[in-house]
Amino acid sequence: MTDARHFALVTGASSGIGLELARQLAERGYDLVVNAEDESRLLEAAREVRAAGTEVEAVVADLRSPEQTDGLYERATASGRPLDVVVLNAGVGQGGAFTGNDLADELEIIDLNVRSTVHLAKRALRDMEARGGGRVLVTSSIAATMPGSFQAVYNASKSFLQSFTEALQNELADTGVTLTSLMPGPTETDFFRRAGMEDTAVGRQDKDDDDAAQVARQGLDALFAGKDKVVAGSAKTKAQALANKVLPDSVKAQMHRRMAEPGSAGQDS
Ligand SMILES: NC(=O)c1ccc[n+]([C@@H]2O[C@H](COP(=O)([O-])OP(=O)(O)OC[C@H]3O[C@@H](n4cnc5c(N)ncnc54)[C@H](OP(=O)(O)O)[C@@H]3O)[C@@H](O)[C@H]2O)c1
Repeated sequence: MTDARHFALVTGASSGIGLELARQLAERGYDLVVNAEDESRLLEAAREVRAAGTEVEAVVADLRSPEQTDGLYERATASGRPLDVVVLNAGVGQGGAFTGNDLADELEIIDLNVRSTVHLAKRALRDMEARGGGRVLVTSSIAATMPGSFQAVYNASKSFLQSFTEALQNELADTGVTLTSLMPGPTETDFFRRAGMEDTAVGRQDKDDDDAAQVARQGLDALFAGKDKVVAGSAKTKAQALANKVLPDSVKAQMHRRMAEPGSAGQDS
């Protein structure tokens, strides 16, 4: 690896938004450590990202596990090379009624979306603060701005990340370290299939105008501009985020029910 090149870590880089973030960082000249849990998908993604001509190391780690989360950071920093950019993107959702869903599955969402992000942020931000520089991108969601009926734990996990990121922006002001919250709307990835939401209105809705490459580009532009947050995606997504600023929470919860209740795909308006 050449030290003159910048160096970044991207979690959840095997598909969707994380793969695009990794690809576009490589196109901007970054050497990378990329992470996911599924080895074959991660190795395939790393091969694709290497096409941009930078060094890409794939590190398989299940970020639901604190030990493997620590192991990922150890591997990423083992060479002594400082991480200029850390992208905390790995995350999953789960649709369905809270009282019907399995408790263990929902606690795993918290382990991945919340606990692993706090864990990696702790390690990375301490190092960045000591060095006086670095950039962190946290994949939140516009879900952070609305109560998530029939996706309650997921939306709450993103509200946590949003609050967490904005608090750290203030704590770390004037240290040379920046954090940016990436807030995509519904985006064309594997997310809704994996969340078991293919029979929902939001799972089924046309997302042709909200592709992962566009979301990643808007996220990286905001990161490198030092912005606090960016709602990423189509004009429709940005309009939804604006509306969410003024709508009462109870109205947003009811809107979310219409989008995310199992079977809602059949009742499309
Ligand atoms: N798509 C949307 O509509 C949308 C909207 C707003 C925010 N987001 C957020 O965007 C982020 C990326 O999601 P996506 O839409 O790109 O979905 P995706 O294509 O399903 O990507 C999820 C990524 O997370 C990784 N991951 C899952 N479980 C993991 C684990 N236990 N340990 C390590 N990595 C794990 C996956 O890797 P494996 O191959 O190992 O499973 C994959 O790389 C998530 O934080 C999501 O909440 C998505």
